[in-house]
Amino acid sequence: MSDRTVQDIKDRLTIEDVVGQYVQLKKVGRSLKGLCPFHAEKTPSFIVSPEKQIAYCFGCNKGGDIFSFVQEVEGTDFAGAIKILADKAGVEMKTFQNPQYKQQKSQKEKFLDLYEQVTEFYEKQLWKTEKGKKVLEYLKNRGISEDSIKLFRLGFSPDSFDETYNYLLQKGYTKKELVQAGLAMSKETTMQKIYDRFRGRLMFPIFDNIGRIVAFGARALSKDQDPKYLNSPETLIYHKSNVLYGLSFAKTAIKQTAKTVIVEGYFDVIASYQAGVKNVVASSGTALTEKQLRILKPLSNEIILSFDNDMAGQDAARRAFEIAQNLEMDTKMISVPDGKDPADYVKEHGNEFGKIVDEAESYSEYFYKYLLSTYGTDSLAARKKILNEIIPFFHLLKSSVEKDEYVRKLAHDLDFKEVQVYDEIRNYKLPSDHPARKNDDAMVSVSSAKRHPEEILLGLYLEFPRIGSFLINEVSEDYFSDELKPIYKVIHGKYNDDSFRADTDVVDEFPHEIKEKAALMSLYINEKYGEITEEEAENEIKALVMLIAKHRYTIGRQQILSQLIEAEKTQNQALRIELLQKLDKLNSENKAK
Ligand code: CTP
Ligand code: MN
Repeated sequence: MSDRTVQDIKDRLTIEDVVGQYVQLKKVGRSLKGLCPFHAEKTPSFIVSPEKQIAYCFGCNKGGDIFSFVQEVEGTDFAGAIKILADKAGVEMKTFQNPQYKQQKSQKEKFLDLYEQVTEFYEKQLWKTEKGKKVLEYLKNRGISEDSIKLFRLGFSPDSFDETYNYLLQKGYTKKELVQAGLAMSKETTMQKIYDRFRGRLMFPIFDNIGRIVAFGARALSKDQDPKYLNSPETLIYHKSNVLYGLSFAKTAIKQTAKTVIVEGYFDVIASYQAGVKNVVASSGTALTEKQLRILKPLSNEIILSFDNDMAGQDAARRAFEIAQNLEMDTKMISVPDGKDPADYVKEHGNEFGKIVDEAESYSEYFYKYLLSTYGTDSLAARKKILNEIIPFFHLLKSSVEKDEYVRKLAHDLDFKEVQVYDEIRNYKLPSDHPARKNDDAMVSVSSAKRHPEEILLGLYLEFPRIGSFLINEVSEDYFSDELKPIYKVIHGKYNDDSFRADTDVVDEFPHEIKEKAALMSLYINEKYGEITEEEAENEIKALVMLIAKHRYTIGRQQILSQLIEAEKTQNQALRIELLQKLDKLNSENKAK
Protein backbone atom coordinates (compact mmCIF):
# COMPACT_ATOMS: atom_id res chain seq x y z
CA MET A 1 0.00 0.00 0.00
CA SER A 2 1.55 3.27 -0.97
CA ASP A 3 1.57 6.24 1.34
CA ARG A 4 -0.18 8.16 -1.38
CA THR A 5 -3.33 6.08 -1.07
CA VAL A 6 -3.36 6.78 2.63
CA GLN A 7 -2.78 10.48 2.10
CA ASP A 8 -5.38 10.63 -0.64
CA ILE A 9 -7.98 9.10 1.64
CA LYS A 10 -7.03 11.46 4.45
CA ASP A 11 -7.44 14.43 2.15
CA ARG A 12 -10.95 13.44 1.23
CA LEU A 13 -12.50 12.09 4.40
CA THR A 14 -12.90 13.77 7.76
CA ILE A 15 -12.97 11.86 11.02
CA GLU A 16 -16.38 13.34 11.86
CA ASP A 17 -17.91 12.00 8.63
CA VAL A 18 -16.41 8.55 9.04
CA VAL A 19 -17.36 8.16 12.71
CA GLY A 20 -20.74 9.77 12.05
CA GLN A 21 -21.70 6.77 9.95
CA TYR A 22 -21.43 4.54 12.97
CA VAL A 23 -22.15 6.75 15.96
CA GLN A 24 -24.62 9.57 16.56
CA LEU A 25 -22.57 12.65 17.36
CA LYS A 26 -23.39 15.86 19.17
CA LYS A 27 -21.29 18.98 19.21
CA VAL A 28 -19.77 19.74 22.60
CA GLY A 29 -17.38 22.67 22.62
CA ARG A 30 -14.64 22.13 20.07
CA SER A 31 -15.29 18.40 19.79
CA LEU A 32 -18.16 16.05 19.08
CA LYS A 33 -19.37 13.35 21.41
CA GLY A 34 -21.30 10.12 21.14
CA LEU A 35 -21.79 6.73 22.75
CA CYS A 36 -18.61 4.68 22.53
CA PRO A 37 -19.01 1.91 19.93
CA PHE A 38 -16.41 -0.22 21.69
CA HIS A 39 -17.90 -0.62 25.15
CA ALA A 40 -21.30 -0.38 26.75
CA GLU A 41 -22.09 2.99 28.27
CA LYS A 42 -25.03 5.25 29.00
CA THR A 43 -23.42 8.68 28.88
CA PRO A 44 -21.51 9.62 25.73
CA SER A 45 -17.78 9.63 26.31
CA PHE A 46 -16.54 8.91 22.81
CA ILE A 47 -14.78 12.05 21.64
CA VAL A 48 -14.27 13.10 18.05
CA SER A 49 -11.89 15.98 17.45
CA PRO A 50 -12.22 17.68 14.05
CA GLU A 51 -9.10 19.74 14.82
CA LYS A 52 -6.92 16.75 15.54
CA GLN A 53 -8.75 14.35 13.22
CA ILE A 54 -8.95 11.63 15.82
CA ALA A 55 -11.72 9.84 17.64
CA TYR A 56 -11.09 8.19 20.96
CA CYS A 57 -12.63 6.75 24.09
CA PHE A 58 -10.55 7.40 27.17
CA GLY A 59 -12.77 4.98 29.08
CA CYS A 60 -11.76 1.87 27.16
CA ASN A 61 -8.73 3.34 25.35
CA LYS A 62 -9.85 2.57 21.85
CA GLY A 63 -9.92 4.61 18.67
CA GLY A 64 -7.46 6.78 16.80
CA ASP A 65 -7.39 8.26 13.32
CA ILE A 66 -9.83 7.21 10.57
CA PHE A 67 -7.82 4.08 9.83
CA SER A 68 -7.53 2.87 13.42
CA PHE A 69 -11.19 3.66 14.02
CA VAL A 70 -12.40 1.68 11.02
CA GLN A 71 -10.10 -1.23 11.84
CA GLU A 72 -11.56 -1.46 15.31
CA VAL A 73 -15.19 -0.89 14.46
CA GLU A 74 -15.25 -3.21 11.43
CA GLY A 75 -13.01 -5.81 13.02
CA THR A 76 -10.59 -5.69 10.09
CA ASP A 77 -6.89 -5.12 9.53
CA PHE A 78 -5.15 -2.04 8.13
CA ALA A 79 -5.54 -3.20 4.53
CA GLY A 80 -9.22 -3.88 5.12
CA ALA A 81 -9.70 -0.40 6.57
CA ILE A 82 -7.96 1.15 3.55
CA LYS A 83 -10.32 -0.72 1.25
CA ILE A 84 -13.43 0.46 3.09
CA LEU A 85 -12.23 4.05 3.29
CA ALA A 86 -10.99 4.13 -0.30
CA ASP A 87 -14.47 3.04 -1.38
CA LYS A 88 -16.03 5.79 0.69
CA ALA A 89 -13.63 8.38 -0.60
CA GLY A 90 -13.85 7.22 -4.19
CA VAL A 91 -10.10 6.74 -4.32
CA GLU A 92 -8.97 4.26 -6.98
CA MET A 93 -6.69 1.86 -5.22
CA LYS A 94 -5.39 0.11 -8.31
CA THR A 95 -3.65 3.19 -9.59
CA PHE A 96 -1.61 3.28 -6.42
CA GLN A 97 -0.60 -0.35 -6.37
CA ASN A 98 2.90 -0.62 -7.64
CA PRO A 99 4.19 -3.88 -9.14
CA GLN A 100 6.48 -4.50 -6.24
CA TYR A 101 3.50 -4.49 -3.89
CA LYS A 102 1.68 -6.94 -6.17
CA GLN A 103 4.60 -9.32 -5.99
CA GLN A 104 4.71 -9.39 -2.24
CA LYS A 105 1.10 -10.32 -1.79
CA SER A 106 0.53 -11.43 1.73
CA GLN A 107 -0.67 -14.91 2.46
CA LYS A 108 -3.99 -13.39 3.47
CA GLU A 109 -4.51 -11.72 0.12
CA LYS A 110 -3.54 -14.93 -1.60
CA PHE A 111 -6.20 -16.83 0.33
CA LEU A 112 -8.80 -14.15 -0.47
CA ASP A 113 -8.00 -14.50 -4.16
CA LEU A 114 -8.21 -18.26 -3.83
CA TYR A 115 -11.67 -18.10 -2.27
CA GLU A 116 -12.82 -15.74 -5.01
CA GLN A 117 -11.58 -18.14 -7.67
CA VAL A 118 -13.05 -21.26 -6.14
CA THR A 119 -16.38 -19.46 -5.69
CA GLU A 120 -16.40 -18.71 -9.41
CA PHE A 121 -15.62 -22.36 -10.05
CA TYR A 122 -18.50 -23.58 -7.85
CA GLU A 123 -20.85 -21.05 -9.48
CA LYS A 124 -19.95 -22.40 -12.89
CA GLN A 125 -20.65 -25.95 -11.68
CA LEU A 126 -24.07 -24.83 -10.52
CA TRP A 127 -25.14 -22.92 -13.61
CA LYS A 128 -23.34 -24.74 -16.40
CA THR A 129 -23.41 -28.48 -15.62
CA GLU A 130 -26.14 -31.14 -15.73
CA LYS A 131 -25.69 -32.03 -12.07
CA GLY A 132 -25.77 -28.33 -11.28
CA LYS A 133 -29.12 -27.93 -12.99
CA LYS A 134 -30.59 -30.40 -10.50
CA VAL A 135 -29.29 -28.27 -7.67
CA LEU A 136 -30.85 -25.19 -9.27
CA GLU A 137 -34.11 -27.13 -9.32
CA TYR A 138 -33.73 -27.89 -5.62
CA LEU A 139 -33.16 -24.19 -4.90
CA LYS A 140 -36.20 -23.24 -6.92
CA ASN A 141 -38.29 -25.74 -4.96
CA ARG A 142 -37.11 -24.12 -1.78
CA GLY A 143 -38.36 -20.76 -3.04
CA ILE A 144 -34.98 -19.15 -3.71
CA SER A 145 -35.00 -16.85 -6.75
CA GLU A 146 -32.32 -16.70 -9.44
CA ASP A 147 -31.50 -13.16 -8.37
CA SER A 148 -30.87 -14.34 -4.82
CA ILE A 149 -28.72 -17.23 -6.01
CA LYS A 150 -26.60 -14.80 -7.99
CA LEU A 151 -26.42 -12.13 -5.31
CA PHE A 152 -25.36 -14.58 -2.58
CA ARG A 153 -23.19 -16.38 -5.10
CA LEU A 154 -24.39 -19.90 -4.32
CA GLY A 155 -22.56 -22.72 -6.02
CA PHE A 156 -22.17 -26.46 -6.33
CA SER A 157 -19.11 -28.52 -5.46
CA PRO A 158 -18.66 -31.47 -7.82
CA ASP A 159 -19.10 -34.93 -6.33
CA SER A 160 -15.45 -35.85 -6.78
CA PHE A 161 -12.34 -36.14 -4.63
CA ASP A 162 -10.05 -34.25 -6.96
CA GLU A 163 -11.91 -32.07 -9.46
CA THR A 164 -11.82 -28.89 -7.37
CA TYR A 165 -8.24 -29.13 -6.23
CA ASN A 166 -6.96 -30.05 -9.67
CA TYR A 167 -8.60 -26.92 -11.02
CA LEU A 168 -6.94 -24.85 -8.32
CA LEU A 169 -3.51 -26.44 -8.82
CA GLN A 170 -3.75 -25.30 -12.43
CA LYS A 171 -4.39 -21.78 -11.17
CA GLY A 172 -1.02 -21.87 -9.46
CA TYR A 173 -1.83 -22.75 -5.86
CA THR A 174 0.15 -25.41 -4.03
CA LYS A 175 -1.32 -28.44 -2.31
CA LYS A 176 -0.13 -27.11 1.00
CA GLU A 177 -1.93 -23.82 0.44
CA LEU A 178 -5.16 -25.58 -0.46
CA VAL A 179 -5.01 -27.59 2.76
CA GLN A 180 -4.14 -24.54 4.83
CA ALA A 181 -6.99 -22.60 3.28
CA GLY A 182 -9.43 -25.34 4.29
CA LEU A 183 -10.43 -26.38 0.77
CA ALA A 184 -8.54 -29.67 0.65
CA MET A 185 -7.62 -32.25 3.25
CA SER A 186 -4.69 -34.60 3.68
CA LYS A 187 -3.91 -37.46 5.97
CA GLU A 188 -0.13 -36.99 5.73
CA THR A 189 2.08 -34.25 7.02
CA THR A 190 3.85 -34.02 3.68
CA MET A 191 0.50 -33.16 2.06
CA GLN A 192 1.45 -35.02 -1.10
CA LYS A 193 -1.87 -36.83 -1.32
CA ILE A 194 -4.78 -34.49 -0.86
CA TYR A 195 -8.51 -34.63 -1.53
CA ASP A 196 -11.36 -32.14 -1.79
CA ARG A 197 -13.14 -31.18 1.41
CA PHE A 198 -16.41 -30.20 -0.25
CA ARG A 199 -17.97 -32.84 -2.47
CA GLY A 200 -21.43 -32.88 -4.00
CA ARG A 201 -22.73 -30.06 -1.83
CA LEU A 202 -24.64 -26.82 -2.20
CA MET A 203 -22.08 -24.12 -1.47
CA PHE A 204 -22.87 -20.95 0.50
CA PRO A 205 -19.90 -18.59 0.31
CA ILE A 206 -19.42 -16.86 3.66
CA PHE A 207 -18.55 -13.20 3.24
CA ASP A 208 -16.59 -11.31 5.84
CA ASN A 209 -18.04 -8.12 7.24
CA ILE A 210 -16.81 -6.07 4.32
CA GLY A 211 -17.90 -8.51 1.62
CA ARG A 212 -14.85 -10.66 0.85
CA ILE A 213 -15.39 -14.40 0.63
CA VAL A 214 -13.50 -16.13 3.45
CA ALA A 215 -15.17 -19.53 3.95
CA PHE A 216 -18.00 -21.83 2.94
CA GLY A 217 -21.04 -23.39 4.49
CA ALA A 218 -21.82 -26.49 2.46
CA ARG A 219 -25.22 -28.17 2.60
CA ALA A 220 -25.77 -31.83 1.94
CA LEU A 221 -27.92 -32.62 -1.08
CA SER A 222 -28.69 -36.26 -0.43
CA LYS A 223 -29.79 -38.19 2.63
CA ASP A 224 -26.59 -40.19 3.00
CA GLN A 225 -24.38 -37.14 3.26
CA ASP A 226 -23.34 -36.37 6.80
CA PRO A 227 -23.19 -33.79 8.36
CA LYS A 228 -26.07 -31.76 6.94
CA TYR A 229 -23.89 -28.67 6.96
CA LEU A 230 -20.15 -28.89 6.56
CA ASN A 231 -18.34 -25.64 7.28
CA SER A 232 -14.85 -24.38 6.48
CA PRO A 233 -12.39 -24.67 9.34
CA GLU A 234 -10.88 -21.60 10.95
CA THR A 235 -8.08 -20.27 8.76
CA LEU A 236 -5.85 -17.25 8.42
CA ILE A 237 -8.80 -15.38 6.89
CA TYR A 238 -11.75 -16.97 8.71
CA HIS A 239 -12.51 -16.60 12.39
CA LYS A 240 -16.04 -17.72 12.72
CA SER A 241 -16.84 -15.90 15.93
CA ASN A 242 -16.03 -12.57 14.21
CA VAL A 243 -18.17 -13.12 11.14
CA LEU A 244 -21.89 -12.67 10.72
CA TYR A 245 -23.32 -14.35 7.64
CA GLY A 246 -24.93 -11.76 5.39
CA LEU A 247 -23.63 -8.66 7.17
CA SER A 248 -22.04 -7.07 4.13
CA PHE A 249 -25.41 -7.22 2.36
CA ALA A 250 -27.42 -6.15 5.38
CA LYS A 251 -25.34 -3.27 6.67
CA THR A 252 -27.18 -0.41 4.95
CA ALA A 253 -30.62 -1.72 5.93
CA ILE A 254 -29.45 -2.31 9.49
CA LYS A 255 -28.38 1.30 9.79
CA GLN A 256 -31.57 2.57 8.17
CA THR A 257 -33.92 0.56 10.36
CA ALA A 258 -31.71 0.63 13.46
CA LYS A 259 -32.58 -3.05 13.95
CA THR A 260 -30.87 -6.32 13.10
CA VAL A 261 -32.85 -9.49 12.53
CA ILE A 262 -30.79 -12.50 13.57
CA VAL A 263 -31.76 -15.88 12.17
CA GLU A 264 -30.23 -19.34 12.47
CA GLY A 265 -29.39 -20.48 8.98
CA TYR A 266 -27.99 -19.53 5.60
CA PHE A 267 -31.30 -20.26 3.89
CA ASP A 268 -33.10 -18.07 6.42
CA VAL A 269 -30.86 -15.09 5.65
CA ILE A 270 -31.33 -15.39 1.91
CA ALA A 271 -35.09 -15.95 2.15
CA SER A 272 -35.57 -13.05 4.51
CA TYR A 273 -33.51 -10.77 2.26
CA GLN A 274 -35.51 -11.89 -0.73
CA ALA A 275 -38.75 -11.11 1.13
CA GLY A 276 -37.60 -7.53 1.62
CA VAL A 277 -36.35 -7.88 5.19
CA LYS A 278 -32.80 -6.97 4.32
CA ASN A 279 -31.47 -6.14 7.77
CA VAL A 280 -30.80 -9.80 8.44
CA VAL A 281 -27.76 -11.85 9.48
CA ALA A 282 -27.01 -15.32 10.86
CA SER A 283 -24.32 -16.33 13.28
CA SER A 284 -23.20 -19.04 10.81
CA GLY A 285 -22.75 -22.32 12.54
CA THR A 286 -22.10 -21.18 16.11
CA ALA A 287 -23.97 -19.73 19.02
CA LEU A 288 -24.05 -15.96 18.77
CA THR A 289 -20.88 -14.51 20.28
CA GLU A 290 -20.21 -11.32 22.16
CA LYS A 291 -17.80 -10.28 19.44
CA GLN A 292 -20.58 -10.59 16.85
CA LEU A 293 -22.91 -8.41 18.90
CA ARG A 294 -20.16 -5.86 19.40
CA ILE A 295 -19.87 -5.65 15.63
CA LEU A 296 -23.61 -4.98 15.37
CA LYS A 297 -23.90 -2.51 18.22
CA PRO A 298 -22.59 0.57 16.45
CA LEU A 299 -24.88 -0.19 13.50
CA SER A 300 -28.06 -0.78 15.48
CA ASN A 301 -28.83 -1.13 19.14
CA GLU A 302 -31.73 -3.52 18.70
CA ILE A 303 -31.57 -7.19 17.79
CA ILE A 304 -34.58 -9.25 16.76
CA LEU A 305 -34.04 -12.96 17.24
CA SER A 306 -35.76 -15.53 15.10
CA PHE A 307 -34.66 -18.86 16.46
CA ASP A 308 -36.24 -22.29 16.32
CA ASN A 309 -39.00 -23.04 18.78
CA ASP A 310 -37.22 -26.10 20.17
CA MET A 311 -35.12 -26.33 23.33
CA ALA A 312 -31.89 -25.56 21.48
CA GLY A 313 -33.46 -22.45 19.98
CA GLN A 314 -34.68 -21.34 23.41
CA ASP A 315 -31.24 -21.77 24.91
CA ALA A 316 -29.61 -19.90 22.06
CA ALA A 317 -32.08 -17.03 22.47
CA ARG A 318 -31.47 -16.83 26.20
CA ARG A 319 -27.70 -16.70 25.71
CA ALA A 320 -28.06 -14.01 23.07
CA PHE A 321 -30.29 -12.02 25.42
CA GLU A 322 -27.67 -12.30 28.19
CA ILE A 323 -24.91 -10.95 26.01
CA ALA A 324 -27.15 -8.22 24.63
CA GLN A 325 -28.14 -7.13 28.14
CA ASN A 326 -24.50 -6.75 29.07
CA LEU A 327 -23.92 -4.62 26.01
CA GLU A 328 -27.09 -2.65 26.76
CA MET A 329 -28.69 -3.66 23.50
CA ASP A 330 -32.45 -4.23 23.20
CA THR A 331 -33.58 -7.74 22.36
CA LYS A 332 -36.81 -8.73 20.66
CA MET A 333 -38.16 -12.08 19.57
CA ILE A 334 -40.05 -13.24 16.53
CA SER A 335 -42.15 -16.34 16.54
CA VAL A 336 -42.71 -17.72 13.11
CA PRO A 337 -46.08 -19.59 13.08
CA ASP A 338 -46.33 -23.40 13.11
CA GLY A 339 -42.77 -23.90 14.30
CA LYS A 340 -41.40 -23.02 10.87
CA ASP A 341 -38.12 -21.25 10.25
CA PRO A 342 -38.01 -18.00 8.22
CA ALA A 343 -36.99 -19.82 5.03
CA ASP A 344 -40.00 -22.14 5.19
CA TYR A 345 -42.28 -19.22 5.99
CA VAL A 346 -41.02 -17.05 3.15
CA LYS A 347 -41.44 -19.92 0.71
CA GLU A 348 -45.16 -19.93 1.45
CA HIS A 349 -45.91 -16.35 2.39
CA GLY A 350 -43.25 -14.23 0.72
CA ASN A 351 -43.22 -10.61 1.78
CA GLU A 352 -45.58 -11.19 4.69
CA PHE A 353 -42.50 -12.09 6.63
CA GLY A 354 -41.99 -8.34 7.09
CA LYS A 355 -45.19 -8.17 9.15
CA ILE A 356 -43.96 -10.85 11.49
CA VAL A 357 -40.77 -8.89 12.03
CA ASP A 358 -42.76 -5.72 12.75
CA GLU A 359 -44.75 -7.60 15.37
CA ALA A 360 -41.68 -8.75 17.28
CA GLU A 361 -42.12 -8.48 21.05
CA SER A 362 -39.53 -7.76 23.70
CA TYR A 363 -37.54 -10.76 24.87
CA SER A 364 -38.83 -10.26 28.39
CA GLU A 365 -42.42 -10.39 27.25
CA TYR A 366 -41.71 -13.41 25.11
CA PHE A 367 -39.84 -15.30 27.81
CA TYR A 368 -42.46 -14.54 30.42
CA LYS A 369 -45.29 -15.83 28.26
CA TYR A 370 -43.21 -18.84 27.27
CA LEU A 371 -42.67 -19.86 30.89
CA LEU A 372 -46.30 -19.45 31.84
CA SER A 373 -47.57 -21.38 28.88
CA THR A 374 -44.96 -24.12 29.26
CA TYR A 375 -45.65 -24.91 32.91
CA GLY A 376 -49.14 -23.56 33.47
CA THR A 377 -50.02 -21.85 36.74
CA ASP A 378 -52.37 -24.36 38.33
CA SER A 379 -50.21 -26.35 40.72
CA LEU A 380 -47.85 -24.95 43.32
CA ALA A 381 -45.10 -27.13 41.87
CA ALA A 382 -45.53 -25.52 38.45
CA ARG A 383 -45.54 -22.02 39.95
CA LYS A 384 -42.34 -22.78 41.87
CA LYS A 385 -40.73 -24.06 38.69
CA ILE A 386 -41.57 -20.84 36.91
CA LEU A 387 -40.13 -18.83 39.79
CA ASN A 388 -36.95 -20.92 39.68
CA GLU A 389 -36.47 -20.33 35.99
CA ILE A 390 -37.27 -16.67 36.01
CA ILE A 391 -34.97 -15.60 38.84
CA PRO A 392 -31.74 -15.83 36.78
CA PHE A 393 -33.52 -13.78 34.15
CA PHE A 394 -34.21 -11.02 36.68
CA HIS A 395 -30.51 -10.90 37.44
CA LEU A 396 -29.74 -10.22 33.82
CA LEU A 397 -32.26 -7.40 33.43
CA LYS A 398 -30.39 -4.12 33.54
CA SER A 399 -33.41 -1.87 33.80
CA SER A 400 -34.84 -1.72 37.32
CA VAL A 401 -38.09 -0.29 35.95
CA GLU A 402 -38.52 -3.37 33.79
CA LYS A 403 -37.51 -5.62 36.66
CA ASP A 404 -40.12 -4.05 38.88
CA GLU A 405 -42.79 -4.41 36.21
CA TYR A 406 -42.16 -8.15 35.89
CA VAL A 407 -41.94 -8.73 39.62
CA ARG A 408 -45.40 -7.22 39.99
CA LYS A 409 -46.75 -9.18 37.05
CA LEU A 410 -45.28 -12.40 38.36
CA ALA A 411 -46.56 -11.88 41.90
CA HIS A 412 -50.00 -11.21 40.48
CA ASP A 413 -50.09 -14.10 37.98
CA LEU A 414 -48.62 -16.71 40.33
CA ASP A 415 -50.33 -15.45 43.44
CA PHE A 416 -47.11 -14.76 45.33
CA LYS A 417 -46.35 -11.64 47.37
CA GLU A 418 -44.02 -9.13 45.71
CA VAL A 419 -41.69 -9.24 48.73
CA GLN A 420 -41.48 -13.00 48.32
CA VAL A 421 -40.32 -12.60 44.75
CA TYR A 422 -37.81 -9.94 45.74
CA ASP A 423 -36.51 -12.22 48.52
CA GLU A 424 -35.99 -15.01 46.01
CA ILE A 425 -34.12 -12.64 43.73
CA ARG A 426 -31.87 -11.47 46.55
CA ASN A 427 -31.14 -15.00 47.75
CA TYR A 428 -30.21 -16.26 44.35
CA LYS A 429 -26.49 -16.50 43.73
CA LEU A 430 -25.08 -16.39 40.23
CA PRO A 431 -22.60 -19.16 39.50
CA SER A 432 -19.07 -17.80 39.47
CA ASP A 433 -18.56 -18.39 35.75
CA HIS A 434 -21.82 -16.68 34.81
CA PRO A 435 -21.46 -14.07 32.05
CA ALA A 436 -23.43 -11.49 34.04
CA ARG A 437 -20.74 -11.71 36.70
CA LYS A 438 -17.77 -11.59 34.45
CA ASN A 439 -19.09 -8.53 32.76
CA ASP A 440 -19.42 -6.67 36.05
CA ASP A 441 -15.70 -7.07 36.57
CA ALA A 442 -14.96 -5.92 33.05
CA MET A 443 -16.92 -2.72 33.55
CA VAL A 444 -14.84 -1.87 36.60
CA SER A 445 -11.59 -2.21 34.73
CA VAL A 446 -12.89 -0.07 31.88
CA SER A 447 -13.88 2.86 34.05
CA SER A 448 -10.69 2.80 36.09
CA ALA A 449 -8.39 3.18 33.10
CA LYS A 450 -6.05 6.01 34.12
CA ARG A 451 -3.38 8.19 32.57
CA HIS A 452 0.04 8.54 34.11
CA PRO A 453 1.07 12.01 35.29
CA GLU A 454 3.98 11.87 32.81
CA GLU A 455 1.53 11.53 29.97
CA ILE A 456 -0.65 14.36 31.24
CA LEU A 457 2.41 16.54 31.57
CA LEU A 458 3.47 15.96 27.97
CA GLY A 459 -0.10 16.64 26.86
CA LEU A 460 -0.05 19.99 28.64
CA TYR A 461 3.27 20.91 27.02
CA LEU A 462 1.67 20.15 23.67
CA GLU A 463 -1.58 21.97 24.24
CA PHE A 464 0.13 25.08 25.65
CA PRO A 465 3.26 25.54 23.53
CA ARG A 466 4.01 29.01 24.86
CA ILE A 467 4.07 27.85 28.49
CA GLY A 468 5.58 24.55 27.46
CA SER A 469 8.52 26.10 25.71
CA PHE A 470 9.69 27.94 28.79
CA LEU A 471 9.02 25.06 31.20
CA ILE A 472 10.29 22.13 29.13
CA ASN A 473 13.77 22.21 30.68
CA GLU A 474 12.28 21.56 34.13
CA VAL A 475 12.26 17.89 33.20
CA SER A 476 14.75 15.56 31.57
CA GLU A 477 14.54 12.55 29.31
CA ASP A 478 14.87 10.04 32.13
CA TYR A 479 11.57 11.22 33.60
CA PHE A 480 9.76 9.29 30.91
CA SER A 481 9.08 5.67 30.07
CA ASP A 482 10.44 4.18 26.84
CA GLU A 483 7.05 4.67 25.24
CA LEU A 484 6.93 8.38 26.08
CA LYS A 485 10.61 9.22 25.52
CA PRO A 486 10.31 9.77 21.74
CA ILE A 487 7.49 12.24 22.29
CA TYR A 488 9.41 14.10 24.95
CA LYS A 489 12.45 14.28 22.66
CA VAL A 490 10.51 15.87 19.82
CA ILE A 491 8.91 18.42 22.13
CA HIS A 492 12.23 19.17 23.79
CA GLY A 493 13.99 19.57 20.45
CA LYS A 494 11.34 21.88 19.05
CA TYR A 495 11.00 24.06 22.12
CA ASN A 496 14.74 24.57 22.35
CA ASP A 497 14.99 25.52 18.70
CA ASP A 498 15.29 29.29 18.38
CA SER A 499 13.10 29.41 15.32
CA PHE A 500 10.20 27.76 17.17
CA ARG A 501 6.99 29.75 17.07
CA ALA A 502 4.47 29.07 19.81
CA ASP A 503 1.48 29.65 17.53
CA THR A 504 2.15 26.64 15.30
CA ASP A 505 0.33 23.35 15.82
CA VAL A 506 3.06 21.31 17.42
CA VAL A 507 1.42 17.92 16.93
CA ASP A 508 1.11 18.59 13.23
CA GLU A 509 4.88 18.52 12.89
CA PHE A 510 5.39 15.23 14.69
CA PRO A 511 6.87 12.30 12.78
CA HIS A 512 4.28 9.87 11.53
CA GLU A 513 4.98 6.99 13.97
CA ILE A 514 4.21 8.98 17.09
CA LYS A 515 1.81 11.57 15.75
CA GLU A 516 -1.34 9.71 16.71
CA LYS A 517 -0.13 9.13 20.24
CA ALA A 518 0.79 12.81 20.61
CA ALA A 519 -2.57 13.93 19.24
CA LEU A 520 -4.34 11.66 21.71
CA MET A 521 -2.40 13.13 24.59
CA SER A 522 -3.38 16.64 23.70
CA LEU A 523 -6.99 15.60 23.08
CA TYR A 524 -7.00 14.10 26.55
CA ILE A 525 -5.95 17.47 27.95
CA ASN A 526 -8.88 19.17 26.19
CA GLU A 527 -11.20 16.66 27.76
CA LYS A 528 -9.74 16.61 31.23
CA TYR A 529 -9.25 20.32 31.71
CA GLY A 530 -11.77 21.93 29.36
CA GLU A 531 -11.04 25.58 28.58
CA ILE A 532 -8.28 26.49 31.02
CA THR A 533 -6.13 29.60 30.88
CA GLU A 534 -2.40 29.60 30.24
CA GLU A 535 -1.84 30.59 33.82
CA GLU A 536 -3.78 27.60 35.07
CA ALA A 537 -1.89 25.38 32.65
CA GLU A 538 1.40 26.74 34.01
CA ASN A 539 0.41 25.93 37.59
CA GLU A 540 -0.71 22.48 36.56
CA ILE A 541 2.56 21.80 34.75
CA LYS A 542 4.57 22.92 37.77
CA ALA A 543 2.46 20.77 40.09
CA LEU A 544 2.90 17.74 37.87
CA VAL A 545 6.65 18.24 37.56
CA MET A 546 6.82 18.33 41.34
CA LEU A 547 4.67 15.24 41.70
CA ILE A 548 6.76 13.27 39.24
CA ALA A 549 10.03 14.47 40.74
CA LYS A 550 8.86 13.45 44.18
CA HIS A 551 7.85 10.04 42.93
CA ARG A 552 11.23 9.66 41.24
CA TYR A 553 12.95 10.67 44.44
CA THR A 554 11.03 8.12 46.51
CA ILE A 555 11.72 5.31 44.09
CA GLY A 556 15.38 6.28 43.60
CA ARG A 557 15.93 6.45 47.33
CA GLN A 558 14.36 3.06 47.92
CA GLN A 559 16.56 1.57 45.24
CA ILE A 560 19.76 3.00 46.69
CA LEU A 561 18.81 1.96 50.20
CA SER A 562 18.22 -1.64 49.25
CA GLN A 563 21.49 -1.69 47.29
CA LEU A 564 23.21 -0.29 50.35
CA ILE A 565 21.94 -3.14 52.47
CA GLU A 566 23.39 -5.57 49.93
CA ALA A 567 26.71 -3.70 49.89
CA GLU A 568 26.88 -3.85 53.67
CA LYS A 569 26.16 -7.56 53.69
CA THR A 570 28.95 -8.25 51.21
CA GLN A 571 31.22 -5.67 52.87
CA ASN A 572 31.77 -3.98 49.55
CA GLN A 573 33.25 -0.72 50.82
CA ALA A 574 33.77 0.96 47.45
CA LEU A 575 30.20 0.33 46.38
CA ARG A 576 28.95 1.61 49.73
CA ILE A 577 30.71 4.93 49.30
CA GLU A 578 29.50 5.27 45.77
CA LEU A 579 25.92 4.60 46.84
CA LEU A 580 26.12 7.04 49.75
CA GLN A 581 27.34 9.75 47.37
CA LYS A 582 24.48 8.97 45.05
CA LEU A 583 22.07 9.28 47.93
CA ASP A 584 23.51 12.67 48.90
CA LYS A 585 23.17 13.89 45.36
CA LEU A 586 19.61 12.71 45.16
CA ASN A 587 18.75 14.37 48.46
CA SER A 588 20.21 17.71 47.46
CA GLU A 589 18.47 17.58 44.09
CA ASN A 590 15.23 16.95 45.86
CA LYS A 591 15.74 19.94 48.16
CA ALA A 592 16.45 22.20 45.22
CA LYS A 593 13.05 21.47 43.65
N1 CTP B 1 -25.43 -25.61 10.99
C1 CTP B 1 -24.10 -25.97 10.93
N2 CTP B 1 -23.72 -27.27 11.00
C2 CTP B 1 -24.66 -28.25 11.11
C3 CTP B 1 -26.01 -27.90 11.20
C4 CTP B 1 -26.37 -26.57 11.12
O1 CTP B 1 -23.25 -25.11 10.80
N3 CTP B 1 -24.25 -29.52 11.15
C5 CTP B 1 -25.78 -24.19 10.92
C6 CTP B 1 -25.95 -23.71 9.51
O2 CTP B 1 -25.52 -22.37 9.43
C7 CTP B 1 -27.43 -23.80 9.29
C8 CTP B 1 -27.95 -23.42 10.65
O3 CTP B 1 -27.01 -23.96 11.56
O4 CTP B 1 -27.87 -22.94 8.28
C9 CTP B 1 -29.33 -23.93 10.95
O5 CTP B 1 -29.37 -25.34 10.89
P1 CTP B 1 -30.68 -26.11 10.48
O6 CTP B 1 -31.86 -25.50 11.13
O7 CTP B 1 -30.41 -27.56 10.66
O8 CTP B 1 -30.72 -25.90 8.92
P2 CTP B 1 -31.51 -24.86 8.03
O9 CTP B 1 -30.78 -23.59 7.88
O10 CTP B 1 -32.90 -24.79 8.43
O11 CTP B 1 -31.33 -25.56 6.65
P3 CTP B 1 -32.44 -26.25 5.81
O12 CTP B 1 -33.54 -25.24 5.77
O13 CTP B 1 -31.77 -26.49 4.53
O14 CTP B 1 -32.85 -27.50 6.52
MN1 MN C 1 -34.64 -24.46 7.23
